Amino acid sequence: MKAIITGISGQDGYFLSKLLNGKDYEIVGIVRRNSSMTTGTVEQLPAKIRDSIRIEYGDLTDAGFFAKLLEREKPDELYHLAAQSFVGYSFQNPASTYDVNISGTLNVVNAIKEYSQKTKMYFAATSEMFGQPETTPQNEETVLKPRSPYAVSKLAGYWTTKTYREAYNMYIANGILFNHESEVRGPEFVTRKITMSVARIKAGTQDYVELGNLDARKDWGYAADYVNGMWKMLQMDNGDDFVLGTGELHTVREFAEESFKQIGMDITWSGEGVDEIGTNQSGKVVVKVNKKFFRPLESDNYLADPAKAKRILKWNPSISFKQLIKIMVESDLKSLG
Ligand code: NAP
Ligand code: GDD
Repeated sequence: MKAIITGISGQDGYFLSKLLNGKDYEIVGIVRRNSSMTTGTVEQLPAKIRDSIRIEYGDLTDAGFFAKLLEREKPDELYHLAAQSFVGYSFQNPASTYDVNISGTLNVVNAIKEYSQKTKMYFAATSEMFGQPETTPQNEETVLKPRSPYAVSKLAGYWTTKTYREAYNMYIANGILFNHESEVRGPEFVTRKITMSVARIKAGTQDYVELGNLDARKDWGYAADYVNGMWKMLQMDNGDDFVLGTGELHTVREFAEESFKQIGMDITWSGEGVDEIGTNQSGKVVVKVNKKFFRPLESDNYLADPAKAKRILKWNPSISFKQLIKIMVESDLKSLG
């Protein structure tokens, strides 16, 4: 079996490469060139896996690149993970977010349609498409009301893939995934920002972490579980849409408390709003709030109902909230030596 992974240099690309390598897939990874010629998380893969991956350099926004790629490779499966995936950045740079996430997705589906109709495609949709949902928990039937340029772009990608699936009888699966994190999560996402800071605070190289909305609530799982769900979505007879998530909600505040617990610190909160602080047992301030990390709009009230994935794919998340935090903090402590 041959698979193309766009976005292989990101978090999910890392775990999906491990999973597919373990199933003896030939993997072709798409990486966009940068001046230092780095390949992101691919460099963190065990050498045996890394060396087996064929990297093709190309950008999502280049339609000609994808056309030639699909005409030549005709993969069995294509996992379309590449995206401008940071919600905060999408408010500052909506146009480039739309270019990459909407036109980029169109380039991928057009290339499959024209040159490789038998390729099964996975599209990385998101729970962000629910926006501020009026019903909870959310499943595949929940109304979509996006609240950020990122979410709008993913909704456009989602409707593009659904339209192509129906119009041209293509096998496309949409994964509506809730937040999933790991030890290779990008450092700007709140979970990794917290666990890296906790490790540095323990090492004495950082005094405190500055965060935005501590009351934001998310349904957080472990990325390795979610890429397994992506693969399962491509092993069916037809493409379909599936929600993946844990069905458990936690606040950023809880994530921070549990992370500090890993290094023996109990946090006490005081103050309100941007003046809120978190102190440890010795009275040292280790968490501050900075309004620059707040978003113009927040999406809240998210909670996954992954019943369809459990029933049809036999998918189940295996790592709890506390286990996830332990994995991340231990990895960040280890990397500091
Ligand atoms: P990530 O770590 O941000 O990885 C995104 C990948 O896309 C990176 O490899 C990035 O390359 C690549 N990329 C961005 N722009 C590109 C371009 N113009 N051309 C080619 N490649 C480009 O994201 P992730 O957490 O692995 O998530 C994977 C996908 O799932 C994304 O589409 C994300 O929106 C979606 N999703 C994620 C979650 C989650 O909680 N993680 C939940 C729902 C949906 P560089 O390394 O060069 O930046
Ligand atoms: N990044 C960040 N930094 N977020 C913060 C901070 C901070 O200092 N303080 C509080 N938050 C809050 C955000 O406002 C948000 O409500 C929550 O923490 C999570 O933010 P992120 O970790 O940046 O992730 P996200 O939920 O916005 O987006 C991620 O999950 C989506 C799925 O729901 C990304 O992976 C998206 O690509 C993905 O679609």
